[in-house]
Amino acid sequence: MTNDNRYHWKHKDLLDVTQLSLPDVQHLLDIAAGFQEINLRPVKKVPTLKGKTVVLFFVENSTRTKTSFDVAGKRLSADTYSLAKTGSSLNKGESLKDTGLTLQAMGPDVVVIRHPSSGAAEFLAERLSCGVVNAGDGWHAHPTQALLDAFTLRQAWNNDFAGKTLLILGDIAHSRVARSNVHLLNMLGVHVRLCAPRTLLPAGVDHWQADVYDDLDAAVRDVDAVMALRLQLERQQAGLLPDLSEYSRRYCLTARHLSLARPEVGVLHPGPLNRGLEISDEVADGPHSLVLKQVASGVSTRMAVLYLLATRNEGGLSA
Ligand code: CP
Repeated sequence: MTNDNRYHWKHKDLLDVTQLSLPDVQHLLDIAAGFQEINLRPVKKVPTLKGKTVVLFFVENSTRTKTSFDVAGKRLSADTYSLAKTGSSLNKGESLKDTGLTLQAMGPDVVVIRHPSSGAAEFLAERLSCGVVNAGDGWHAHPTQALLDAFTLRQAWNNDFAGKTLLILGDIAHSRVARSNVHLLNMLGVHVRLCAPRTLLPAGVDHWQADVYDDLDAAVRDVDAVMALRLQLERQQAGLLPDLSEYSRRYCLTARHLSLARPEVGVLHPGPLNRGLEISDEVADGPHSLVLKQVASGVSTRMAVLYLLATRNEGGLSA
């Protein structure tokens, strides 16, 4: 853990989990655990980030990520402002660079960006002096999703990741969530399995630190957790899946599959859910589901991210 007084969070931005060391991750999750208590109080607000400004710049749709960053900022008393593509001058052709510099001129402490293009968050971070958080860029990375998933699993597994096995199931090719999770879970000592039809596995998957399956019954056997992924229907025009009912028959996570896993198996899904396609109702709403715990973890984890970036030059709290 990071009770070491020499530890110092050094990152201006959070662009990808690959930039983080294990002490960074443990420190961030410890801070999130401290903030979780605030989220259970009758009055869920502390003055920690009073006077700080957070801009939520979402060029792609979001329910969970955008709302939880907004809630996170407000619970820490930061002022939060939203800018979406619709209703902004992006729709008049203003560039990402000019939009970013315009936001910067208003003096935010942190800009949180979601963008359909891989690399957009890094592009902005290189041009802005404030902190930049990647809230999902194309197929590339979704670091706060991986961190909140780790936070959820840390609580489910009593802070003991070693020797655990987690299966990531579904549309891995198009998933920034899978990319960030595979890296972070490996860093934490979790053994990762992937299961998908061949057409929904990314190029180069053989170089990922994970075992690859196409048969779900084999993949789910004795796992400690399953992370089902949304089938990204908007990206299926290329004929990767000739038949959705065949996909559902082979890859929709059901209670029968969970009976092959370890008895205390946890089920995660980043959302939004395609019920009946990649996850059955009985699993999504069943006793093994951690889906709504992930949403709650998202608030605590994003409080920690905003706190660390907005106060990085001010000494910071100890975890
Ligand atoms: N998991 C996730 O990123 O969900 P949203 O698209 O609703 O933010």
